[in-house]
Amino acid sequence: MKSIVVYESRYGSTERYANWIGQELKCKVCKISDIGLEELLSYDNIVFGGWLHAGNIKGLKNISDNIEKFKNNNKNLIVFYVGLSILDERAYKEIYEKNFKDMDGIKTFYVRGAFNFQKLNFGDKMMMKAFKLVLKKQKEEEMDDNTRGMLQAYDTPVDFVCKDAINPIIESVNYNK
Ligand SMILES: Cc1cc2nc3c(=O)[nH]c(=O)nc-3n(C[C@H](O)[C@H](O)[C@H](O)COP(=O)(O)O)c2cc1C
Repeated sequence: MKSIVVYESRYGSTERYANWIGQELKCKVCKISDIGLEELLSYDNIVFGGWLHAGNIKGLKNISDNIEKFKNNNKNLIVFYVGLSILDERAYKEIYEKNFKDMDGIKTFYVRGAFNFQKLNFGDKMMMKAFKLVLKKQKEEEMDDNTRGMLQAYDTPVDFVCKDAINPIIESVNYNK
């Protein structure tokens, strides 16, 4: 079975995961923007990684727009997505509704990324500043750990990227044939 890892990453954490998965599978790793659909469809295991941006998985559209082609060709499609939050059941559901609605049957994995407010580009900084105002509207005593952690991350960079988190992704790869 031929495998490939494709990804979209802006600040490097999704890329770190993609490279670890590629090393483990001993396969090609490249940005999703650097490969055409036809070449992608020549692989059996296709691992895609994208990062969460306001609940949307960046780059996933390249896959979801062509989902029928992946399905019809019996591809083992594996998606991992990277974000800062600790996801509860409600959050998983929201992400599913936004990103995976027409993609049932594919394997999905969430792994945690990193965040350094000072290193964000201008647009992302503006967006995260607006989000901070929303978070700060909550009363201190009513905030959950996620909100507290997020607010702290504006002042102190965080990095939750962890190599062990790739293990379930590696296990979902099909090695037959
Ligand atoms: C503008 C912006 C929006 C984000 N939105 C979310 C989000 O909705 N949920 C989440 O868990 N993390 C969110 N994050 C955190 C990123 O997903 C996290 O920093 C990730 O590691 C970035 O991936 P990259 O390093 O591969 O670019 C956001 C980060 C930025 C900069």
